[in-house]
Amino acid sequence: MPVGVENAAAVAEAGAAWTAELISNAVRARGACYLALAGGETPRGCYQRLAGDPYLLSVPWDRVHVYWSDERQVPLDDPASNYGMARTALLDRVPIPPGQVHPLIGDPTPELRQVPAGAGGLPRFDLIHLGLGEDGHTASLFPGDAALEEQKAWVRAVHAVKPPPERLTLTFPVLNAARAVLFLVQGEGKRRPLAGVLAGDASLPASRVRPADGELRFIVDRAAWPA
Ligand code: 6PG
Repeated sequence: MPVGVENAAAVAEAGAAWTAELISNAVRARGACYLALAGGETPRGCYQRLAGDPYLLSVPWDRVHVYWSDERQVPLDDPASNYGMARTALLDRVPIPPGQVHPLIGDPTPELRQVPAGAGGLPRFDLIHLGLGEDGHTASLFPGDAALEEQKAWVRAVHAVKPPPERLTLTFPVLNAARAVLFLVQGEGKRRPLAGVLAGDASLPASRVRPADGELRFIVDRAAWPA
């Protein structure tokens, strides 16, 4: 069942609190946390909140390894870059060692191999952040795209309907290998796709995020909450 909160600020707060908790739990249990950040606009507030009090000092940032669940193939300093958004909102403000930040560019496989493997040798992230598109896409897995059927490759290049079109995305095998997946969902425009995802509408790519051995959580504001 999704976690309902009042507004975008509350989504940011709840998202930051749970993320900080999972980072600390992963570091306590395994000495490190492997985190994949989401793109788009929704997570910005959560990332800004994570850079603030108390998380700036309470989170073991030096043990965090940062990846992305998808990336637009634009220069990293382009306003449309998911990396650029996270750098401004979070990464420039917390002490994560530069060698532990892995933009999703070029051939990311070697860097994904640094993520501890789970079942079948898949990279098993401690936490993957995802957003939800109004058409039910998530990461850069869009309705009707061949990448939805990918069962072997960890990353696929896609030509998306949402600009900028050229993107790389983690595939469902990697998303569903995670120990935890967090969807951050806010705004009236997400109410309908969220209702479909929660009802298991298989035509919506986000419905296919079902961690095989992991937790799936939705943090949703009142505007996106199913009627
Ligand atoms: C991207 C995102 C994409 C995003 C949704 C929601 O790179 O565009 O990964 O999946 O999460 O489109 O975007 P908003 O948060 O901007 O509504």
